[in-house]
Amino acid sequence: MSASPSSVQDVAAGLRAAGYLPGESTALVAYLAARLGKPILVEGPAGVGKTELAKALATYTQRPLIRLQCYEGLDEAKALYEWNYRKQLLRIQAEAEGAGWDRVQDDIFGPEFLLQRPLMAAIAAEEPVVLLIDEIDKTDQEFEAMLLELLSDFQLSIPELGRFEARTRPIVLLTSNNSRELTEALKRRCLYLWLDYPSLEHELEIVKLHAPELSDTVAQKLVEVIAMVRELDLKKPPSIAESIDWARALLLLGASDIDARTFRDTMSVIVKHRTDLDVVAERVGVKLADGAPAA
Ligand SMILES: Nc1ncnc2c1ncn2[C@@H]1O[C@H](COP(=O)(O)OP(=O)(O)O)[C@@H](O)[C@H]1O
Ligand SMILES: [Mg+2]
Repeated sequence: MSASPSSVQDVAAGLRAAGYLPGESTALVAYLAARLGKPILVEGPAGVGKTELAKALATYTQRPLIRLQCYEGLDEAKALYEWNYRKQLLRIQAEAEGAGWDRVQDDIFGPEFLLQRPLMAAIAAEEPVVLLIDEIDKTDQEFEAMLLELLSDFQLSIPELGRFEARTRPIVLLTSNNSRELTEALKRRCLYLWLDYPSLEHELEIVKLHAPELSDTVAQKLVEVIAMVRELDLKKPPSIAESIDWARALLLLGASDIDARTFRDTMSVIVKHRTDLDVVAERVGVKLADGAPAA
């Protein structure tokens, strides 16, 4: 690892240099995780920078990023390792004449017949990596249980081969959109970081980073309107991702202000449910038409 974080400020500066503007606790938790060798569980609504944090940490520490995208039904074969059946079969055929089964069996359960999946790859890596286990809440509790050995001891057991210990210590991030409660056992092994929608100032800074040409007035109004929309009771409130998309859309359209008309024309960039659109058009559209100050 080239950059071993030496202080919280160091981490904050490193993340910024990687294009990620950390909130108050983000740099602190990342620093502690790197120094204590503990995984970070990052939880929060969709689109608030959980995945991006892992990418930025990898850039900052100059480590390769290994990513396991979780989904319903994800199993060990896709997360840990699989035997390369095709290759095993070829070996069996090649040795069919002559060699006894015992020899062939010893042969085909060696490391060269193993297909490494992300978790195994992170353990086996020669150089330290950042391991991102993204959207862990999409898997089931059995999968979580399987992760525990990895998360506390950085090792894996393969029945045919024995125990694999990590050669280097990965920085591990797990993210969750909070769609289900994670187990206490998992939480106990992790440092916890809650990422929420950012403050006005923080979001303004993020929007400007991603759409630097946007004028200060439009950017300011954008984050105020977004904050106002989040106040409404919506199925899916706009996230930072939507703010950035909106900023880019407004730039493209050459908008010099967010008036009622501009808002109506572009609000589908930030609101993506039919029923939400109605609520937002009514509550926010009207406010903008009144010329009332946003927020
Ligand atoms: N603190 C931040 N600094 C810079 N960009 C950010 C920040 N937080 C979020 N973003 C941007 O917002 C978008 C959504 O972030 P992402 O990590 O995909 O969200 P999540 O994984 O929480 O759903 C990305 O384009 C990311 O670059
Ligand atoms: Mg994500």
